[in-house]
Amino acid sequence: MIAMMYLQRLILSQNRNNFWQKLNKSRFNGQKINLRGVRFVYRAQEKSNIAIKNGRIASDKQHWHPILPKEDAKLSDGGLSFEQRESVWNQLHSHLFSYQSAFLGFQINQSFNSEKTKLFMDMAINNDGDPFSASSLDAMNTKVMECAVLDYFAKLWGIQQSNISDEKERAYWGYITSMGSSEGSLLALLNARDYLAGMPLNSPTHNFECPHADNKDESESHKVFNEHHGTVNQSQEFTKNGYVSAKNYGFASSEGNPNNFTPVVFFAQDCHHGFEKALRVLQMKSFGDIGSGKFPCPLKYPNDYPSSFSDEFIDQNGWPRAVPVEEDGSISIPCLVKLVTSFVSRGYPPLVIFTCGTTFKGANDNAQAAINELVPILKQHDMYERRVYSSEHPIKSDVRNGFWFHIDGALGGAQLRFLEMAINQGLVRNMFPDGFPVFDFRIPEVKSLVMSLHKWFGCPVPSSVFVMRKMDQVKPLKNPLCIGGLDSTLSGSRGGHSVLFMWDLLSKMSYDDFRDMAVRGVEMVAFSMMKLQELQKELPFDLWLSHTPGSLFVYFRQPNQDIVRRYCLGSKLLKVKTVGGTFEDRIYSQICLMPHVTENLVLHFIEELRAPGAFSVQK
Ligand SMILES: Cc1ncc(COP(=O)(O)O)c(C=O)c1O
Repeated sequence: MIAMMYLQRLILSQNRNNFWQKLNKSRFNGQKINLRGVRFVYRAQEKSNIAIKNGRIASDKQHWHPILPKEDAKLSDGGLSFEQRESVWNQLHSHLFSYQSAFLGFQINQSFNSEKTKLFMDMAINNDGDPFSASSLDAMNTKVMECAVLDYFAKLWGIQQSNISDEKERAYWGYITSMGSSEGSLLALLNARDYLAGMPLNSPTHNFECPHADNKDESESHKVFNEHHGTVNQSQEFTKNGYVSAKNYGFASSEGNPNNFTPVVFFAQDCHHGFEKALRVLQMKSFGDIGSGKFPCPLKYPNDYPSSFSDEFIDQNGWPRAVPVEEDGSISIPCLVKLVTSFVSRGYPPLVIFTCGTTFKGANDNAQAAINELVPILKQHDMYERRVYSSEHPIKSDVRNGFWFHIDGALGGAQLRFLEMAINQGLVRNMFPDGFPVFDFRIPEVKSLVMSLHKWFGCPVPSSVFVMRKMDQVKPLKNPLCIGGLDSTLSGSRGGHSVLFMWDLLSKMSYDDFRDMAVRGVEMVAFSMMKLQELQKELPFDLWLSHTPGSLFVYFRQPNQDIVRRYCLGSKLLKVKTVGGTFEDRIYSQICLMPHVTENLVLHFIEELRAPGAFSVQK
């Protein structure tokens, strides 16, 4: 029976038609309508779906245009002729266009509208410096629109209502980055590091100052402070560059503990790989760097670990290399709580990274549930709030938190928020078994959040929105004249074009439109799962079909390299526990149901998976 089906498909694939062009056409029609409302997209797709069901569609590799040969693109001292240049442009465009049409694997939305923004492509726009401060490039930036986009997200993520009447009332700070979320997270970690290390804040809200300070020398001032505010550890040291070097004063029980200003980073196994790099750049230490070999790990294998965790990820001193994750890819809250407790009880301030949409499985950490468990522990160890002195003004102190929770919402920061609206309105059922994973500033302890614009929303230029609580912003090092404002961003020159794409999209779409876009993602995942399950029934081997609820990814056994390349599939080696209890190395590939993906594309892809030779291992 299965052999017959293969034969039938082989014959079909020889009757190739112009499906690829039809697919493109329906995709672009769909895309335009997509901006107005999702339901119409479904209608637009129906006809070609029927064609596929009737078996008139077959794969057509010829439509993947070959990559531009390197020698054609080579430049020369005298420039290239008109014909050479045209040929290169045409080849490049055909190549990218053909691959864009089949783009299935990564979390990049290929549908956006650049009609309005094209006008600005002939202009060098630069948003250098802080979006909220004046810039000498004022005439040639898009900061007004940048602030409007930031306000939009501040409202969406529950930190600020729009229409702030007084700038002083703004509770958040942020900017649109030049890189993707990697830049926003790098700045979040930099700010968190310095915040937890006791560097001066930009606008401290709870300042304490010793009275009569001007008339007293430093040690006398501290004495007076003692009388007003309780015990102060006199062993404090101030560094050359003006930041408090370190002890915990007044409120903390572990006074004088040298760990009090050493942040320790907790990131999960399925966190984006960029965080390890960020830690190296910022010279920060993870819990393993600090604890391994120094004190016993609070997690004992296997009892304290999720059952899907392989002990290969435990180092020679018994420490996991990252916070273990559950089988669905979300951070293991019991493991996180035990690890954080062991450091907080030693006086270390924790910096925890939660992910909203992990890179491969698309899992959403339940930040709310984790923070609910961590807060009492932080309070118990006087780390929830503590007083920190500044060596710039030795008699001044501020009260701040002894923790930092950062949300990496590169993908989920947008999609999950609108999915939440859809669930609350009863448009889709709540697929999260432990309750909806609220992740944003509605949780008072969340301090920073980043989301990539080019992922779910769609933007041709990589970019992200970074937002943090303004009261937690560490004082920028300089206020350079050349940018006419605070040097608070990570980058110098910043692109101003991505802001325009976002402003354009956000000005055309309502919350309801985005909510529908999120609903469509859920439907597309369900559709893909259903079609892949049908395929599974026909295959003589296990497809390892998997999906984490609430995510936009579906992942399965890696097909052959040709398919992986043509559909730009992301792949990953996973250690999977088998029914027998042993661990097996498996290479999976994923498809990501981004807003540009149509049912046609999914069906076409699955047809390829059906063909003989689609998988190299066919046991
Ligand atoms: C969970 C997660 N975080 C961060 C990033 C990095 O984002 P960007 O590529 O926008 O810098 C990615 C990229 O895929 C990601 O999946």
